[in-house]
Amino acid sequence: MLTFLKTAAPFSLPLLLLVGCTSAPPAPEPEPAQADPAPAPLVQLRTLAQKRGLELGVAVDFKMLANAKYAGLVASEFSAITAENVMKWETLHPQADRFEWFFGDTLADFAGANQQKFRGHTLVWHSQLPQWVKDTVKTRDAMLDLVRTHSAAIADHYKGRVHKWDVVNEVIDDTEGFRKSEFYTLTGTDFIDEAFRAAHGADPDALLYINDYSVEHLGPKSDRLYQLCADLVSRKVPIHGVGLQAHLDLDQMPGMDSFRKNIERFTALGLQVDITELDIRFSGPATPERLAAQAQAYRDVFEVILTTEGTDSVTLWGLDDGHSWIPKWRPGVGNALLLDRKYQPKPAYWAVAEVLGR
Ligand code: XIL
Repeated sequence: MLTFLKTAAPFSLPLLLLVGCTSAPPAPEPEPAQADPAPAPLVQLRTLAQKRGLELGVAVDFKMLANAKYAGLVASEFSAITAENVMKWETLHPQADRFEWFFGDTLADFAGANQQKFRGHTLVWHSQLPQWVKDTVKTRDAMLDLVRTHSAAIADHYKGRVHKWDVVNEVIDDTEGFRKSEFYTLTGTDFIDEAFRAAHGADPDALLYINDYSVEHLGPKSDRLYQLCADLVSRKVPIHGVGLQAHLDLDQMPGMDSFRKNIERFTALGLQVDITELDIRFSGPATPERLAAQAQAYRDVFEVILTTEGTDSVTLWGLDDGHSWIPKWRPGVGNALLLDRKYQPKPAYWAVAEVLGR
C-alpha cells in the first residue's frame, strides 16, 4: 500500500527574489495564477525514490517557480533539479566579458532550501550558444582558451552547490563521427578534454558528465559515445559519468534488454550512468489506452534503472505536460510527462510510484 502524504510548498520565489540575490535582471513574467483544481494527493516520489537509493530530478522552467503550485510540486516530488534553460551558455555567459549568475543562483537557493541536489546543465553545447562566440572566436587556441575559462569560471562559481555537471552536451553526430560544431571544427575533440579538465580544476568534488540523446540503447551512435568515453577514461581525463537524455517515443521505445546492456558497458568503464532528460512522448489524443501504454513504458525504464548497478539517478525533463518542450519541438506530439496540464497525476505517475514503492 502507498502512504498518501500531504504535499508541502516550503519555498516561495518572490520571497527569494526579495532576500536572495543581487543585480536581478528583469525576471520573465510568471504565468498568471490558474483556476485549476488543487493537485490530487500525491505520494512524494522523492521519498519513495530515496528509499530505493535513487536520485529523482526534474528540469525546472525558471519563470514557473513564481507559481506556488508548480514550485510546491517541484519541491515535494523531486530530490534534484536541473535548470531547463537558464544555465545554458546564452543565458549564463551572454557577452564575452559578462556572466549572468542570477538565475542559476536563485535555483541553487531553491535547491538548498528544499534539500535537493542541483545538476548543472550545461557548460559546452553547440545549441543556445550566443552569437558572440561564433563571431569572435576564429582559431584553435582562442577556442580552447574560451572553453577553459568559461568552464572554469562557472564550475568555480557553483562550487559546492552543483553536485554534477553536464560538461559537454551532444558532441556525437547522428550519422558519423563527432558533431561538426564550432568547437569541433576549430579544435577536433580537444575542447572536450579542455572542458572536463577546467571544470575539475575549478571544482574537484563535482561529478562530471558527458550527455547525449539517442544513445540509450546499443547502436552506432551509442557505440561512438562509448569509444569516446573509453578514450577519455584511458587518458585519465576527469570524467565521472554518462548522461543518457532519454527523450523517448512511446511508439519507438528502445528494447529494455538493449537499454540495460548499454548501461552496463558504460559502467564497466567505471562511469556512472544517469538518465538526465526523461520524457516519453506520443502523438494523438491521450486515450486511456495510450496513457496505460505510456505508464508501462515508464515502469519499464525505472525497473531497468533500479535493477542495474552503477545507475541511480533519473531526471524528468519537466514537471507536467503544460510545461514540456515536446509540443513546441514537435507540434501534435506531447503528453510526455508524469503530471497532466492541470498538475494531476497520470497513470505514468502511479506506475513510477508503484515501481519505486516495491
Ligand atoms: C530544451 C528546452 O527544454 C527547451 O525549452 C528549449 O527551447 C530547447 O532546449 N537536449 C538538451 C536540453 O540537452 O537542454 C534541451 O532542452 C532538450 C534536448
